[in-house]
Amino acid sequence: MPSRLHRTIRRFIGCLSFSLCIAGLTGAAPRALAQDDLSGYWVVKIPVGDGTTHDFYMNLKQNGDAVTGDLFLRGPDGMPLHGSFKDSKLHVEGTPPPPRPGANLRPAPFVDGIYANGKLLVEARFRQQPMKGTAERSTREAMLPPAPLPLPALHDVPDNGLARTPPMGWNSWNKFAGRITDADVRKMADAMVSSGMVKAGYVYINVDDTWELGRDANGNITSNTKFPDMKALADYVHSKGLKFGIYSSPGPLTCAGYVASFGHEAQDAKTFAAWGVDYLKYDWCSAGEIYKSTRENIQPSYQKMGDALQATGRPIVYSLCEYGDGDVWKWGSAVGGNLWRTTGDISDHWASMDKIGFSQVDISSYTRPGHWNDPDMLEIGNGGMTAEEYRTHMSLWSMLAAPLIAGNDIATMTDETKSILMNTEVIAIDQDTAAKPVELVSHEGTNEVLMRPLADGSVAVGLYNRGPQAAQISVRWDALKLHGGARTARDLWKHTAVPATGESYTATVPSHGVVLLKVSSGS
Ligand code: GLA
Repeated sequence: MPSRLHRTIRRFIGCLSFSLCIAGLTGAAPRALAQDDLSGYWVVKIPVGDGTTHDFYMNLKQNGDAVTGDLFLRGPDGMPLHGSFKDSKLHVEGTPPPPRPGANLRPAPFVDGIYANGKLLVEARFRQQPMKGTAERSTREAMLPPAPLPLPALHDVPDNGLARTPPMGWNSWNKFAGRITDADVRKMADAMVSSGMVKAGYVYINVDDTWELGRDANGNITSNTKFPDMKALADYVHSKGLKFGIYSSPGPLTCAGYVASFGHEAQDAKTFAAWGVDYLKYDWCSAGEIYKSTRENIQPSYQKMGDALQATGRPIVYSLCEYGDGDVWKWGSAVGGNLWRTTGDISDHWASMDKIGFSQVDISSYTRPGHWNDPDMLEIGNGGMTAEEYRTHMSLWSMLAAPLIAGNDIATMTDETKSILMNTEVIAIDQDTAAKPVELVSHEGTNEVLMRPLADGSVAVGLYNRGPQAAQISVRWDALKLHGGARTARDLWKHTAVPATGESYTATVPSHGVVLLKVSSGS
């Protein structure tokens, strides 16, 4: 298993090998660069355009014409560099680890540098995108993560009484990633109202990673130039009758490399509460470079923030994001969690959604009012799947009683996307107050039938075809364990009654499609 650090490095690096070219500016012959021996640690800072910099480190060893060394993104594991002087330039190359699908972080360094007066003026390129920055002398210590802080003894954080049904809302990451701005978030809040989503039950407008800047003189976390005033943004979202969410990490840096809450948990919780935050997504990320990602470390780290949020006195939904490590579903509620990610990141492809969604049935019994398994946000409307597949996505998440956090641009969505995200009959399954676990009725090849008993005594049934061809899928009525008299059944995508007689029901289900039924027995 690659470490989280290695995965992070791969995400940074993408698919390119990199080169570093350093030329002497002093006018002296290139070989005179030896007098400015570049050996040692350098920090390279590339401004990202939001007031923050993307930082990486190099440890160069110059030996005559030859240069070797390492490039570090975070922590002590570097990627080897090697190169030599030629034509006034120092050319250094390295081969990064292979890319990880769904890479979502800041660009990899692909660098030319000019050396002058103790500084490297750097031009970096990533997928043809030019970026400029500077490199300064640094130290090995500067690039290492901070020392671990002692973790608290475990106790049960009281239930905050929130999220009695799975949270519904929108989050910026899947569609906007690092490009999200205050203006976009306001637009999404407007659209949540004008599209009718709010009427269908969606209420949270959540800003994910890349809103952060740094800390002020008092150590208070600040927002970057994309988010000039977080309190004003929260007020705007509230003025629309919606709730406002934000994002941080128990590590010093978020997954995208922005400042996070390590050692500032109580202070940040207070800041979030003062801004009017109603929902916090807390993402393990760089905490994994300080502590081993095992339950003994993850649980108390999350407990710290769980306690800190409750100490603010403001009701704040607490969303744990540590990818399911240490079987979080077994202890997420003990740290005050209202929902917890159970998997790695979803991406907008059938294979990703299918793999994540259908892996959740076995842990479904851990979900209950106030405490939900979270198989990640929705990709519906982002364009990488067919409408049929997005209906399956929505149906599967609803059968699982998963949080319904839209991840698309809800201001420009098509009528088809709206009809999927706002199918109130399907949403009613998701939000069913009984929150009973989903059960596997049958599994034959790529056909799966799932059912979930509902609060009103009826049963939701999903006939899923995970295969590449249309399939006939059946369910026996007696498998649904319904009591009472005459049966009725309703197709929740066609919005029509279906025959509920005989011993079973058979539907032709398109490839990657679903037939979702609500079956009731007569009173
Ligand atoms: C992790 C999370 C994602 C998103 C990104 C932001 O990958 O799992 O949901 O929050 O970080 O950097």
